[in-house]
Amino acid sequence: MAKIRNSFILLLVIFSVATAKHPAIRRRSRARAFIEFQCQATLYQDLCVRCLSNYIANFTTTQTHEQLAHIALKVSLSRAQSTRAYVTEVAKQLKQTKAKDYRAVEDCLDQINDGVDQLTNCIKEVEKIKENGGSEFPWHASNVETWMSTAQSDASICIDGFSGRAIGGKTKAMIKAKVLNLEQVTSISLALFNRYAARYRPSHATKPKV
Ligand SMILES: *[C@@H]1O[C@H](CO)[C@@H](O)[C@H](O)[C@H]1NC(C)=O
Repeated sequence: MAKIRNSFILLLVIFSVATAKHPAIRRRSRARAFIEFQCQATLYQDLCVRCLSNYIANFTTTQTHEQLAHIALKVSLSRAQSTRAYVTEVAKQLKQTKAKDYRAVEDCLDQINDGVDQLTNCIKEVEKIKENGGSEFPWHASNVETWMSTAQSDASICIDGFSGRAIGGKTKAMIKAKVLNLEQVTSISLALFNRYAARYRPSHATKPKV
């Protein structure tokens, strides 16, 4: 019996040594756990995990709310840009064929363009947080929150605009799906940014102005 127990222990030791994780693997699994946990605070948990898991390599050894907020924001901007590219293409085709749906798609494109601008400004503002930090934080953070929620409404307005109009089935469904995804990803980014801001404010509130 003792022998069996000893070999079991030996096996266990070998097993733990074999799986003693490589630092890079450990970092990745920690980043994944962090993402999964933080995504629970968003409205679209699965989408959140799916989107952000693609950027695990972008996290450093110590994952922070700041990092997560920045990465999520970049993901939103890149979704907005690819959605814009798609809608621009559709609008071009509809214009050529003088389709009656052209106006609706053009209206949507205006919204998406505005969303891209808003998100681009958010990224610049986040850069300013990195530079100025401290006492300037509430100002920059509230700008980011305002612009991100504008970008989210832009997407919603586009979707709503389609609901009332008779646009060709497949194209309409495709645009709607893409813009809905953009709207949700932006909602996720905003939720993650809010969490970061909420943690940052109290921890820096007592810092004297420099
Ligand atoms: C992730 O890192 C790559 C390489 O540094 C960079 O090009 C990319 O923009 C980053 N993506 C995000 C979402 O932060």
